[in-house]
Amino acid sequence: MQVTDKLVLITGAASGLGYAAAQVMLAAGARVALFDRDAERVEKAAQTLGGKACAYVADVVDAEAMATQIDRLGPLHALINCAGIGPASRTIGRQGPMPLELFERVLQVNLVGSFNAARLAAAAMARNDPDDGGERGVIVHTASIAAFEGQIGQVAYAASKGGIVAMTLPMARDLAGLGIRVNAIAPGIFDTPLMQAAGEEVRQPLIAATQFPKRLGEPEEFARLVLHILENRFINASVLRIDGGLRMSPR
Ligand SMILES: NC(=O)c1ccc[n+]([C@@H]2O[C@H](COP(=O)([O-])OP(=O)(O)OC[C@H]3O[C@@H](n4cnc5c(N)ncnc54)[C@H](O)[C@@H]3O)[C@@H](O)[C@H]2O)c1
Repeated sequence: MQVTDKLVLITGAASGLGYAAAQVMLAAGARVALFDRDAERVEKAAQTLGGKACAYVADVVDAEAMATQIDRLGPLHALINCAGIGPASRTIGRQGPMPLELFERVLQVNLVGSFNAARLAAAAMARNDPDDGGERGVIVHTASIAAFEGQIGQVAYAASKGGIVAMTLPMARDLAGLGIRVNAIAPGIFDTPLMQAAGEEVRQPLIAATQFPKRLGEPEEFARLVLHILENRFINASVLRIDGGLRMSPR
């Protein structure tokens, strides 16, 4: 798909990887619907990005709010799922077993939220006329390398990202007949507010374990992979790692 003048919906667009994806999409000539639950930050992001970016406030787990906002968009050609949370907690911690609500919340936002956005976006894409190659739309999920090498304290996060990895193939199969491709990106460690909050003691060992280049990923590097997936129509049902060769150890 050539993104010029196409509408691209990005969840979690107020910050980090989602914001970088918005910048790269706009530079490539797309129109961008910035979705986030943080009203203030998403409005500010739209103002900063200017022109072809519009802000929409919705929590990805809210079926009604997401449906209402997506209905307002008009023809939609791509979804980039970046909304996510990553609180750390062990199965059994100092206070006892991890509260079940915490596990459920992470699964809810990262996995159910990604599915909610995808099912609604796919229904909108299904109404598009196919292009010359028969394509109606593209969905890109954001998983994590924690789906494969979850560290101590990442049991909920890894389960949620593993769910994203596992749903990518059946979703691509479900939507193939409509000409909608579905892929996921599994990032390593990127320099975003989520990782900045983690602190040096978490970041430094991960940088040390990265093969090359020995640094955090730049959000633009993630965003350029998203653009490539949108443009390269033979990439389908795949989970692509972008991690500088990092394979995470238990801690
Ligand atoms: N930064 C990394 O190193 C890294 C690595 C692997 C995977 N990821 C994944 O990439 C995605 C983006 O991460 P980031 O580092 O840019 O984080 P971030 O915290 O900078 O941005 C996440 C955005 O998602 C929004 N959001 C959170 N919950 C939401 C909800 N329920 N509904 C709507 N919006 C919501 C937040 O308001 C925020 O603007 C996440 O799914 C994260 O798990 C990040």
